[in-house]
Amino acid sequence: MERPLTEHIHPGRPPLDIEGYERVGGYQSVHKALKQLSPEAVLKEVTDSNLRGRGGAGFPTGQKWSFVPRGDKAPKHKYLVVNADEMEPGTFKDRLLLEGNPHQMIEAVVVSAYAIEASSAYIFVRGEYHLAMQRLEQAAAEAAQRGYLGNNILGAPFSLEVHVHGSAGRYMCGEETALITSLEGQRAIPRAKPPFPQASGLWGRPTVVNNVETLCNVPHIVNRGAAWFRGLSRGPDGGTKIYGASGRVQHPGAWELPMGTPLREIIEDHAGGMRDGYGLRALLPGGASTAFLTPEHLDVAMDFASVEKAGSRLGTGTAIVLDDRTCPIGMLRNLEHFFAQESCGWCTPCRDGLPWTERILAAIERGEGKDEDLGMLEMHTRFLGPGKTFCAHAPGAMAPLESGLVCFRDEFERHIRGRGCPWRS
Ligand SMILES: Cc1cc2nc3c(=O)[nH]c(=O)nc-3n(C[C@H](O)[C@H](O)[C@H](O)COP(=O)(O)O)c2cc1C
Ligand code: SF4
Repeated sequence: MERPLTEHIHPGRPPLDIEGYERVGGYQSVHKALKQLSPEAVLKEVTDSNLRGRGGAGFPTGQKWSFVPRGDKAPKHKYLVVNADEMEPGTFKDRLLLEGNPHQMIEAVVVSAYAIEASSAYIFVRGEYHLAMQRLEQAAAEAAQRGYLGNNILGAPFSLEVHVHGSAGRYMCGEETALITSLEGQRAIPRAKPPFPQASGLWGRPTVVNNVETLCNVPHIVNRGAAWFRGLSRGPDGGTKIYGASGRVQHPGAWELPMGTPLREIIEDHAGGMRDGYGLRALLPGGASTAFLTPEHLDVAMDFASVEKAGSRLGTGTAIVLDDRTCPIGMLRNLEHFFAQESCGWCTPCRDGLPWTERILAAIERGEGKDEDLGMLEMHTRFLGPGKTFCAHAPGAMAPLESGLVCFRDEFERHIRGRGCPWRS
């Protein structure tokens, strides 16, 4: 099984320096693109590869890039922004790529910026990822010395500067328009779309925002072609995917597997199944802002369409596993606490509704819940659901709650009737 993204990542060992990276074929995509391919040809290859965004929403990458204006009439400065904010609870896949192979990230930035004709790139890194930032800065300095960054890269009429930028430490900084606002030095609140960032983004210039994992695929697509990339997958979406699992499984971690690998294989074979004495009650397949799936969904293929058909979202592909000895109401209260804290406060349903759901869940957990609380929680899932707020934060927060109200109905009722948490004794 091919693992292009993680082949040269060895946990516990420092990442490859530029000589080591070049020895294993690193920066070949830059040579190939700049010497043999036009930016449009790189774009076409990425479009044909069926690469879809790995940051959560799964938007086709080639299509996103195609919205960027080109040619003489296009604005002179365009930007590529790498979304390395990674604050989604339960998600840690981008950290693996950034720390494990920073040169792969820099190579991806150069070849992707070439495709959209960007002259500057920002890598927007989660503030707590100090090691990732340090390694990226070192990799960028080495790449600049070797002529992969700066003016007239490899003698071609293409120049690029790269900046590594530490995030302000809010979950909202990961939402693409809030990220742009934050990069401009303002408070991280989202912007209305349209205009989309590809037309008017950073400082009003065309900007593409892509996730770390999404972009790290690009050098491999350029080197080996769209058909090869599509062939890596077990389903319609191209490539591999870094899947992960956390919670009470035998071996929590992250693994690069073919896109469309069934959930059962991820949980049972790679995570080693549940820890002794624990059963699988449910899981959030793609991080904290996705809906619960239950053991009956274990044969679902982890690709965008299949997970959606099962009633959830692939999201970041990193599963949070809930066992049968942990209180699901406590888990939901914990998640809603996070989402309430991270609301940017722009829209009323999100700003006021999220703390409200947290308070109700806490009361139920304490044994002070009332029958009508369930109706009140359901009402919140509607009022904070898709289309009701300015950005996807509130609907994301409602996904585990809405599904939890169905999956754990008996647990809610046990807490309310028994006036306390049956799991705390
Ligand atoms: C509240 C919120 C937080 C987000 N955080 C991240 C993040 O940390 N990293 C990320 O890549 N995308 C994040 N996203 C999704 C981005 O808005 C955007 O869709 C993504 O970066 C696009 O990249 P892709 O097309 O490569 O997936 C977040 C979205 C929301 C609503
Ligand atoms: S949904 Fe929440 S986070 Fe998003 S803009 Fe509205 S208040 Fe801010």
